[in-house]
Amino acid sequence: MAKERCIVVGAGGISGAWFPALQAEKVRIQAVVDLDLERAQQAVQRFNLEAEATDDLAAALDKYQPDFVVDLTVPEAHCAVTCAALQAGCHVIGEKPMAASMAEARRMVRTAEETGRMYMVSQSRRWDAKHDQLQRLVRGGKIGVLTTVNCDFYLGAHFGGFREEMESPLILDMAIHHFDLARFLTGTDPVNVYCREFNPHGSWYRGDVAASAIFEMTNGVIFTYRGSWCAEGCPTSWNGNWRLIGDRGTVLYENDREPWGQVVAGSTGFSRPLKDLRPPAPRLKHFAMHGALREMLTFLRTGKIPQTECHDNLKSLAMVFAAMESSRKGKRVEVKTC
Ligand SMILES: NC(=O)c1ccc[n+]([C@@H]2O[C@H](COP(=O)([O-])OP(=O)(O)OC[C@H]3O[C@@H](n4cnc5c(N)ncnc54)[C@H](O)[C@@H]3O)[C@@H](O)[C@H]2O)c1
Repeated sequence: MAKERCIVVGAGGISGAWFPALQAEKVRIQAVVDLDLERAQQAVQRFNLEAEATDDLAAALDKYQPDFVVDLTVPEAHCAVTCAALQAGCHVIGEKPMAASMAEARRMVRTAEETGRMYMVSQSRRWDAKHDQLQRLVRGGKIGVLTTVNCDFYLGAHFGGFREEMESPLILDMAIHHFDLARFLTGTDPVNVYCREFNPHGSWYRGDVAASAIFEMTNGVIFTYRGSWCAEGCPTSWNGNWRLIGDRGTVLYENDREPWGQVVAGSTGFSRPLKDLRPPAPRLKHFAMHGALREMLTFLRTGKIPQTECHDNLKSLAMVFAAMESSRKGKRVEVKTC
């Protein structure tokens, strides 16, 4: 099969997770573009690529006309980079979060529509064997009709750098993962949210690094999210600890251990008899960025739409911006994508 060709834009920290996946899939990397030319050169050298290192995206698009572009730039640059690639006739797979604002994200979706190109966002946590097992367990109806979802995320994270200066580091930089997972696991979409962001006493962050949010999702599902990057001791995993409740039982997913649950097995007694619920066997073969990349390659080969194509992913991003809006206004707000 002919090799797909791509250009990678942004050679920072996360590119170290992408180059091995691209190489494993034998994608031909024609150029690595970074505003910081040295970073692009270092990536070419480190991964032993036969690619041009450049700081000129427009010239590279014009010269190579790749099948797709991998946008690994900072969120503030996603809109400009992705729109330029789409307008040059390329499909795009880009890092989360889609954009730094809803207005930019909508512009990106419109550009994908106008150019007829695919733009998908990589939400790496969807391609995790346990998340896939949990999703099948919940959406397969084993716990009955889903009513309630809780996610707790607590870490004492001393990043230093820009996150400690941001206004909403938790919601903007991290919660997109958990919000998107909530949609992925439940198959529901956000309707409205009440959120309170805050900065706990003793915080080493300037902005609001903790939050409690209650989302109403479609089908009346209530998703409660509590999180902080400024919580010393007893950390949860980076994926958070989850409890999903249906009208027949409950599933727990905690500390990255295999999900398990209990469902009712009788109809009498103050507490009904219960039986254990185990997830289906793991089945994913490609994980994180590699899983996302496989969806783009499958799209290129078969036309199958990736699960995180931009129209869908806009709903996860909208949860982020609606939560921040609710916190600022001190009231419940609608989660709007348009
Ligand atoms: N999926 C995950 O788990 C995960 C983890 C970390 C980061 N990310 C995401 O990956 C993206 C990049 O994060 P990072 O940690 O690699 O950041 P980084 O700051 O280490 O690297 C970003 C690179 O993009 C370059 N860049 C910025 N604007 C550019 C432009 N207009 N054109 C070309 N290059 C440009 C910068 O010079 C820098 O080298 C972010 O959106 C981030 O949220 C995702």
